[in-house]
Amino acid sequence: MPASAAKRLLDHYDQHQRKLPWRSASPEPYRVWLSEVMLQQTTVTTVIPRFRRFIARWPTIEALASAPPEDVLSEWAGLGYYARARNLIACAAQVAARGGFPSSEAELRTLPGIGAYTAAAIAAIAFREQATVVDTNVERVVARLYAIAAPIAEARSEIRALATALTPAERPGDFAQAMMDLGATICRPRNPDCRACPLATDCGALASGHPESFPAPKEKRARPHRHGIAWWIERDGAVWLVRRPERGLLGAMAALPGPDWCDQPPLTPGFAVVAHGFTHFTLDLHLASRASPPPGEGWWQPLDRLSDAGLPTLYRRAAEAALAERQIRAA
Ligand code: ADE
Repeated sequence: MPASAAKRLLDHYDQHQRKLPWRSASPEPYRVWLSEVMLQQTTVTTVIPRFRRFIARWPTIEALASAPPEDVLSEWAGLGYYARARNLIACAAQVAARGGFPSSEAELRTLPGIGAYTAAAIAAIAFREQATVVDTNVERVVARLYAIAAPIAEARSEIRALATALTPAERPGDFAQAMMDLGATICRPRNPDCRACPLATDCGALASGHPESFPAPKEKRARPHRHGIAWWIERDGAVWLVRRPERGLLGAMAALPGPDWCDQPPLTPGFAVVAHGFTHFTLDLHLASRASPPPGEGWWQPLDRLSDAGLPTLYRRAAEAALAERQIRAA
């Protein structure tokens, strides 16, 4: 790979970079951190409006650190992977207490929720450290440049070493974002636009004549299927909601009450079913009416303010299904 490759990529980035609300000539660590946490597992298109709303509500890390945790979780509702939001709260508290973000990749790694990817991204983008940022887009770009035929899972350390060798001392943050933009917009998983690629002359996969076949697709594992029951308990224009346990899936999020999920469908069918896909299993959530709340804490959420409850997508869809069913019955 010629040394000019990074320069060509940066020139291309200067002309074609995506205009994203967290990008700036002097990026603030808070905005970089927040955007990178949001962008893990969530698409750029989904993140843009949510990032803007979050920043308008909590413009600084100090503001975020002093927010009630339920407000932060509720603002995160719909973005999924709620451990991110719980870690965000813990991280904001630590950073505010120490008077700002640490500036090195190694120190960033010690903060809650900041793993290898996020630490490198903040260090490179906000602090201009020559850190190498490797996400799935970067992995694909590197696998194609070097025509690595193995599935990504088998080539991770090789890919990281190659990406590190490519990372320039100058503008490492722009280089990282240029690689990510390239992977998202040109070096796409399917149908890559090699004619628009500033690295086409260096690309082993393109030279092979079938660039999209790199890297080898990962084996798809069948996801187990599970069942849950959610109780719809309605009284005087309000529905009973609970907060899920701190730990585990959808931890600390608002929810409809119900027993633990299991592998068997319920013996009595509910009045509606919501099918939902999690990363490691699929779920049928069966909705059942109930007259009064189960023992334990919860609150009556007015139905005309259900959207303020901070329900994650599964329970928002369940509530929509319940309300739709109620309308049908009333008609
Ligand atoms: N995906 C994750 N972080 C990104 C960034 N900073 N720019 C573009 N795509 C990204």
